[in-house]
Amino acid sequence: MKTKFTCSNCLYSSPKWLGKCPSCEEWNSFQEEVVDRPTKQSKKQEAWKDGRKKATKAIKIEHIVKQEQSRIDCLDQELNRVLGGGLVKGSLVLLGGEPGIGKSTLLLQVALQLSNKICYVSGEESASQIKMRADRISKDASNCYVFAETNLTKILQETNVLAPDILIIDSIQTVATPFLESTPGSVSQVRECTSELQRFAKERDIAVFIIGHINKDGLIAGPKILEHIVDVVLQFEGDKNYSYRILRSLKNRFGSTDELGIYEMWTHGLRIISNPSDLLLSQSDENLSGSAVAATMNGARPMLVETQALVSKAVYGTPQRSATGFDIRRMNMILAVLEKRAGLLFGMQDVFLNIAGGIKMVDPSMDLAIATALVSSLQDITVSSKNCFAAELGLTGEIRAVHRIEQRIVEADRLGFDKIFISNYNYKSLDQKKYNIELVGLSKIEDLIHQVFG
Ligand code: TYD
Ligand code: MG
Repeated sequence: MKTKFTCSNCLYSSPKWLGKCPSCEEWNSFQEEVVDRPTKQSKKQEAWKDGRKKATKAIKIEHIVKQEQSRIDCLDQELNRVLGGGLVKGSLVLLGGEPGIGKSTLLLQVALQLSNKICYVSGEESASQIKMRADRISKDASNCYVFAETNLTKILQETNVLAPDILIIDSIQTVATPFLESTPGSVSQVRECTSELQRFAKERDIAVFIIGHINKDGLIAGPKILEHIVDVVLQFEGDKNYSYRILRSLKNRFGSTDELGIYEMWTHGLRIISNPSDLLLSQSDENLSGSAVAATMNGARPMLVETQALVSKAVYGTPQRSATGFDIRRMNMILAVLEKRAGLLFGMQDVFLNIAGGIKMVDPSMDLAIATALVSSLQDITVSSKNCFAAELGLTGEIRAVHRIEQRIVEADRLGFDKIFISNYNYKSLDQKKYNIELVGLSKIEDLIHQVFG
């Protein structure tokens, strides 16, 4: 077995361990890595000889025979959708997320509800702890085997004997291959174990889930090195103080990365939320100042989300600006546009912005709703809770069109809204007669002030 040492900062490599990297001058960054394993070496030579015997040829794309991927139904519509229509056999799926967000719960729940044979390997919890959790989730436990082990060689041996359809590794930071001396969770261990599992998944046609903890910087296992090894990268996120969890796909070799799953953590595991708008709208029907509803898209799904703003006179010298669930720089831009193009003065005001439900939104079509909430709070004028908004705001104060406008309108209509404010560019291409909801087209920020605040 040949190993080398690589700097985890700049990838400089050396045959010996070094305390300080001569290339980037980082201390303590050297990690051991496998260069080549003896068995793999001989395999490589065999493959080389093989290749010379049977000459392979490039094929014209239209002559390639397409192979349908067989997929396993996870009996969880959200997970199925995020995976692109079920779990592909022989694929390696990485599920990342902060500790305590519910990764183990999600996969154990899937393992318990399927009738396929599943091996759940845990390096974090003992078998009896998993049993306790399983009892809490209380699904009809069917064909799930639990294996508390951290040695990768033993895990693969046992899996070979058991021959499950799905192998779950909880978590990649706790397993280690005995071929490397570095500790579990180190860059080289994580990378080596993942590639080993990828090879295993493809050879045995077993779908493998690996759980990976994300550190503070949002990276899986420190570096992003795992993403290119695996077939699918899923991320489980949410605010720990709220019960909602979002499952996103960051990479998917078998489907779109636009999809999104929403769950709620409750006392018996995770519950699917099929109607996210119901949660993200506030429960009261009263009209309150400082609140406006945005018709947004989260992935490929339309969602109505309430935005709340509080604008009040700054008591201390420098006004405070704070945004929860929204990019604060974008909020500052909206404030600047309102100030410059509509003559509304926010300069001496504290501004707080909050997106209901603790969900992070990145859709620029939230701009119009946020601008409305800000003006509403500044002037203390209420906005009807039956109005919603979907448009982007440009720096010159123009109201810009957004994509998938029809889907947003249909969703707002379904939820019983009376009016939706959109960009004139979107408005021109739509037919009012098709919808019950009234469409209002705006071209400049001044139009918003006139139409909504009179
Ligand atoms: P867990 O799946 O252990 O998180 P991870 O594997 O991502 O670290 O979930 C941790 C939290 O979920 C824990 O704080 C308790 C909570 N929980 C529930 O609220 N209900 C449940 O039924 C279960 C199993 C967990
Ligand atoms: Mg866990």
